[in-house]
Amino acid sequence: MDLLTTFTGLRFHNPFLLSSAPPTESESNILRAFEAGWGGVVTKTIGLHPVVNVVGPKTKFLRADADSARLSMKKRPGAALHSSWNWELISDKTLDWWVPRLGRIKQAFPNHMLVASIMAGSGNDTELRHWQELAIACQDQKCDALELNLSCPHMDRPDMGSNVGKDKELVSIVAKVVKEVAKIPVWAKLTPSTTDIVVEARGAFLGGADAISSSNTFTSLPLIDQDTLEFEVQVDGLVSTGGLGGPAILPLSLAKMSQLTQAFPDKSFSGIGGISTFEHALNYFLLGCGTVQICTAAMLDHAIGPGVIRDLNQGLTRFLEKHADKGWKNVDDFVGLRRDRIVAQSKIRRPDEKDYRGGYDAEGYAAADEVGVSGRPR
Ligand SMILES: Cc1cc2nc3c(=O)[nH]c(=O)nc-3n(C[C@H](O)[C@H](O)[C@H](O)COP(=O)(O)O)c2cc1C
Repeated sequence: MDLLTTFTGLRFHNPFLLSSAPPTESESNILRAFEAGWGGVVTKTIGLHPVVNVVGPKTKFLRADADSARLSMKKRPGAALHSSWNWELISDKTLDWWVPRLGRIKQAFPNHMLVASIMAGSGNDTELRHWQELAIACQDQKCDALELNLSCPHMDRPDMGSNVGKDKELVSIVAKVVKEVAKIPVWAKLTPSTTDIVVEARGAFLGGADAISSSNTFTSLPLIDQDTLEFEVQVDGLVSTGGLGGPAILPLSLAKMSQLTQAFPDKSFSGIGGISTFEHALNYFLLGCGTVQICTAAMLDHAIGPGVIRDLNQGLTRFLEKHADKGWKNVDDFVGLRRDRIVAQSKIRRPDEKDYRGGYDAEGYAAADEVGVSGRPR
């Protein structure tokens, strides 16, 4: 069965990538990931600014009991994974550390897709040149694509991470600056912590981005333990906001993705958030993603997800076999097939004949044109 797929002009053995995170933080992990069968990896984000992580755990896992409403990070039998919570910064290794390793990885696996995730500031020209320095260094080592981290949710600096991703102009400028030097495809990884992600995506495409990756983790807090009255993750009693990943964000991330793929049906998207099985990944494909990326599930499976990629590849193979009668031969044949099934509430059938009209035009309420809406609501 042919699991090959082409995404932003690159040929992937399969459409499944490890996302930028601990599974891709080292040369040994990335080599193991390719050996395990991942079609591509996005490196842990590489930057030029100093990075020092918090004391103690950087990631923890929130679990739900089956027989009660309890949610807690405490390890206990029978509890199911709800989400991951992290406040890890980008790679604490320097660009000099990464450069020879990227080269060696490409030498060992020339036909596997190595995407370099990069991040710099955006406050002035020097910072913008850092983006270019990072981009050139990674592409000189034969990396296949660049992913711009415009989405890390726990940055102090207002000109970095999701603070950039919330600003359509900055998103556009950063994409443009990187595209000026890039000879390889540039993907923009956007933050879901924004009112209308389509606005920032438009900025990225105007800047020349070849694809959008979404979602990074959602801004969130760990829960407070009712006995100790301390946050389940804290240092000296203090916590900052961090990022939520894993199963809990799958439906949230899908909603963001459907907005993106409907707004830009001809563009390329890499879906991320809450995927651990092919059934999960299928949602992103059917909404219009050409590849998907995985973090939390891989972290919990021998650090790089050998079991996860086996399930994904087997799941896709079985799915293509099941739908062979439709002539489906690879992912491209069903990408976006359910994109247009998401419509305004008023377009959903009502139990009686009377038209709902989205809440407009009823007695005592304004008609659509009176409230500045032309015609029916979207
Ligand atoms: C511990 C941890 C570290 C992460 N570090 C990065 C990072 O350096 N760069 C980045 O773009 N995303 C980073 N992410 C976000 C993931 O790549 C991914 O977008 C997110 O976890 C959602 O996917 P998931 O639900 O499969 O975990 C990190 C996530 C976790 C849990």
